[in-house]
Amino acid sequence: MCGIVALIGSREAAPQLLEGLRQLEYRGYDSAGIATIERTATGSGQLHCLRAEGKLINLTNRHAAQGAPGQCGIGHTRWATHGKPEERNAHPHLDGSGLLAVVQNGIIENHRSLREELQAVGVDFRSDTDTEVIPHLVSRRLAELRAGGALASGTLLLQAVQDVLPLLQGAYALAVVWAQVPGALVVARRAAPLLIGLGEGEFLCASDTPALAGFTRTILPMEDGEVALLTPLGIELYDAAGTRVQRTPTLLSGTEHVADKRSFRHFMLKEIHEQPETAALWVARHLPVGGATGPLVALPLDDALLDGLERVQLLACGTSRHAAQVGAYLLEQLAGMPTDVFFASEFRYGPPPLSPHTLTVGVTQSGETADTLAALAMEQERRRAMADPAYAPRLLGITNRPESSLGRLVDAVLDIGAGIEVGVAATKTFLGQLLAFYGLALALAERRGGSINGRSPEALRQLVDQLRLLPEQLRALVADHDRRCEGLAHRFVDTRDVIFLGRGINYPIALEGALKLKEISYIHAEGYPAGEMKHGPIALLDAQVPVVSIAMPGSVFEKVLSNAQEAKARDAQLIGVGPEGPDTEVFDVLLPVPAVDELLSPLLTVIPMQLLSYHIAAHRGLDVDQPRNLAKSVTVE
Ligand code: F6R
Repeated sequence: MCGIVALIGSREAAPQLLEGLRQLEYRGYDSAGIATIERTATGSGQLHCLRAEGKLINLTNRHAAQGAPGQCGIGHTRWATHGKPEERNAHPHLDGSGLLAVVQNGIIENHRSLREELQAVGVDFRSDTDTEVIPHLVSRRLAELRAGGALASGTLLLQAVQDVLPLLQGAYALAVVWAQVPGALVVARRAAPLLIGLGEGEFLCASDTPALAGFTRTILPMEDGEVALLTPLGIELYDAAGTRVQRTPTLLSGTEHVADKRSFRHFMLKEIHEQPETAALWVARHLPVGGATGPLVALPLDDALLDGLERVQLLACGTSRHAAQVGAYLLEQLAGMPTDVFFASEFRYGPPPLSPHTLTVGVTQSGETADTLAALAMEQERRRAMADPAYAPRLLGITNRPESSLGRLVDAVLDIGAGIEVGVAATKTFLGQLLAFYGLALALAERRGGSINGRSPEALRQLVDQLRLLPEQLRALVADHDRRCEGLAHRFVDTRDVIFLGRGINYPIALEGALKLKEISYIHAEGYPAGEMKHGPIALLDAQVPVVSIAMPGSVFEKVLSNAQEAKARDAQLIGVGPEGPDTEVFDVLLPVPAVDELLSPLLTVIPMQLLSYHIAAHRGLDVDQPRNLAKSVTVE
């Protein structure tokens, strides 16, 4: 989704801004722009603004042709919300004089009334965006302050922005430059991320860590409601009340923020291949080698979060919601814990009655999904409003970005530690989320002691031993299915619809298979619980509609095989995901997965789902890493 970079220092800003935007490309965007302030002989400056529809290369070419000198500037990649993805709607947006420029991530919810108010006093708007009200409002405030005798300065720009922010409703991160003060940059955030990177005599501000790659590892993440004035000499940071704040910068960990495709054709393929490593790291961090007596899993969770727990509710969107569905199955079947999964976007407007002693878990790889954050914040608020401590909020986050807005909202985080994921279609972060749920379910099961759903403590320990084998199993599976799925892809050249079937713990994996295929190949796909086929979707089947069926040995194996037979009788091409053997001979093509404990099977069955989608999309020559209309981090509701 939208990305912001802003630089102030002593070198030319435009090349660094373009590089920062390049690092944010993975988030998804449809236009881009930069504005720089060139210092002129008079001491004030000249604003240069370049914008271009489409990929960043269009903006880079425009910069090569026209230039944008100056040592201070702002840049933006836009993912359209208000107004079509056209150049006139691309950021930066300017005030009427063309001297002040703004980039913004988020949504200004009251932009309509602000626009009407400004139009009523003669302001002309040049775009359809919500953002454009901001430069006009700041410019009007600057004019008022200057009419009162104030001189142009960074402090004045800061004050004008501080005065305007209370007028804006919604969530935003923004950066402002003004030609009258070439040595000042003002940035602000409310419920949308913004980080300040500290270089030597220069500062780079960005909405996401990859833009800081190669610039600095020393960062100052801005807190909600904060505003900062940046000059080449330093940072002045203020809270929402206007009080000056001092905070120590932190260090970005490792090279997690560096996006590198290595020798892979796409980031998505590289990230699928990284999953054995994701699993190995998780095993090393969370499965202590304690023999027959030590704890089953080591999780960084305080007892207060889990003591006396009676219910879990999981809030998530998209792929993360599929991980949550597997998680709910595990929590109920392994730990005997009643668990509900909600679409975060629905929860906010129709939450269930409050239940006591409930853990609310936000599942989001990016940690910035607006729907998930809003649902969590709402739950936190309505629980805080209850006098009875049994209803007190207990919030947990499962994320790949512990430093995200989610990390600041919840009481504790399970960091899936998958390293940066650039492909918009989530793969290794999905596996990481699944593993987080295995950890949580095992920890809760262990706390309960005794047998749950027929699983004794010894059986749990055996499950953990099997989990230790996962990295090696994944390594073999990824290599094998990469080859097999590549060989299958040509069969899907004319395919328009695909059905994915699964049951029990593999039903969410069927949903995930369908979502992956839709997202990157643009082939219509649906996932169903296999037993539901006969209640309607079977009407869609004929020889043109492939059916991918997940058939893993366990409680529903025979049932799934029968459901596959029903599809075969309608001439559907059957692709099976399951172990080799006489049972799975019903399938026209088998993507073999070794027989493991049914509860662990999603960790394996997801691999052919990912690789099949990847190779079908790559065979079609599509932009796998940045599929149309999608964004890596969905920061609008
Ligand atoms: C699918 C995908 C999306 C995200 C969804 C939630 O590949 O990535 O469906 O899962 O937008 O995103 P997060 O997990 O960042 O909350």
